[in-house]
Amino acid sequence: MEQLRKPIVILGPMESESAYLTGQLNDPAVHQIGAYRFVSGMIDDYPVVVGRTYIGMVNSAAATAIAIERFDPCLIIIQGTSGAHDPDLHQGDIVLGERIVELGSYYTSHREIGEGSCYTEWTQPGAEIVQHGVIDRVGVLYSDPAVIDLAATVPYPHGKVIRGTIGAADIWNRELDMIDHLRKTLGTVCEEMEGFAVAQVCAQMGVRCADVRIISNNERFPDEIFDESYGRYCQEFCLDLIRKMITTDFT
Ligand code: 5AD
Repeated sequence: MEQLRKPIVILGPMESESAYLTGQLNDPAVHQIGAYRFVSGMIDDYPVVVGRTYIGMVNSAAATAIAIERFDPCLIIIQGTSGAHDPDLHQGDIVLGERIVELGSYYTSHREIGEGSCYTEWTQPGAEIVQHGVIDRVGVLYSDPAVIDLAATVPYPHGKVIRGTIGAADIWNRELDMIDHLRKTLGTVCEEMEGFAVAQVCAQMGVRCADVRIISNNERFPDEIFDESYGRYCQEFCLDLIRKMITTDFT
């Protein structure tokens, strides 16, 4: 009976964002596929696979595609650290990524030599996404709403838990004007480097996904520089979420 239940795959880009969860698996088995390492096992008698994607959109897209092919999951959770765009978010706060927007693809307007660059003129075409044979340009994707609703009920002791729009690209923005521009035009509350890639592959493969992030840095505050140790709290939160999914027969 147990083998018939599709596993939950939970991904984290860095060691500090995946090691704790890996250590929580009962009966662990390692699956090394090229550079990508997955560990399958059980949490409360439910099959769970923890994967380390490595940093960035390409790595996380590859890890997602491999995980879907190899493990046939019912859900993929991408989780880890992120940088705040919202001035009210601080280290330790959790963002449930209701919406995930792509920050990395732009069309610029034409400018002559010497005219410089102006990001407020750039337009964002979105990613080319193929669903049910239809090709589209999509700039925003969504976490599974039922997973976000359940996550919003998980107790969390290290900060606040909010729902919001997460931006993702192979970019680390530190210019506060740019951060404000993204916040105002796209509604981002934080940014990271994997969420949209994972959501895109999931959308194209017909798998539910959710992006859950912890704030590990806020550029507005000099004492809130990147601290990857916050990755542990995010994993603890996601473990509680998975346990809640299992006990409420959510999966
Ligand atoms: N900008 C972009 N990525 C960030 N990360 C944490 N903070 C930020 C930020 N301000 C995450 C990314 C990536 C790693 C470098 O940390 O998702 O995996």
